[in-house]
Amino acid sequence: MEQSEPKFEKYVFVCVNERAPGERVSCGATFCGKELSEKLKEAVKAAGQVEKIRVSKSKCLDVCEEGANVMIFPDNIWLSHVEIRDIPAVLEKLGIKP
Ligand code: FES
Repeated sequence: MEQSEPKFEKYVFVCVNERAPGERVSCGATFCGKELSEKLKEAVKAAGQVEKIRVSKSKCLDVCEEGANVMIFPDNIWLSHVEIRDIPAVLEKLGIKP
C-alpha cells in the first residue's frame, strides 16, 4: 500500500445507482442522478476546472429516498434532493461562478 496526496483539489461524487421498478427508489432510476452526473461533469469542463475538480459516479450511499445525492470532498458537503436546475448552486459550492 502507498499513501499520497489526492490528485484533485475536490472530488464530487454523484450517485447514479439504479434499481429495477418495484424495488427501493434510486438516484439513477427514480431521480436524475445519471443526467446530473453528466451535466455536472460538462459544466466543470466548460469552466476549465477539470484539472482541479473530479466529478465521479458513485453507487448507492444508502439515503436513496433523498436522491439525487451528491457529496463534495474534502469539504464534507452532502447535498440531497439535487435536481438538474441546482447545477449552478452546486458549481457555486465548488467555487465556480456560473
Ligand atoms: S441509490 Fe443513491 S443513495 Fe441509494
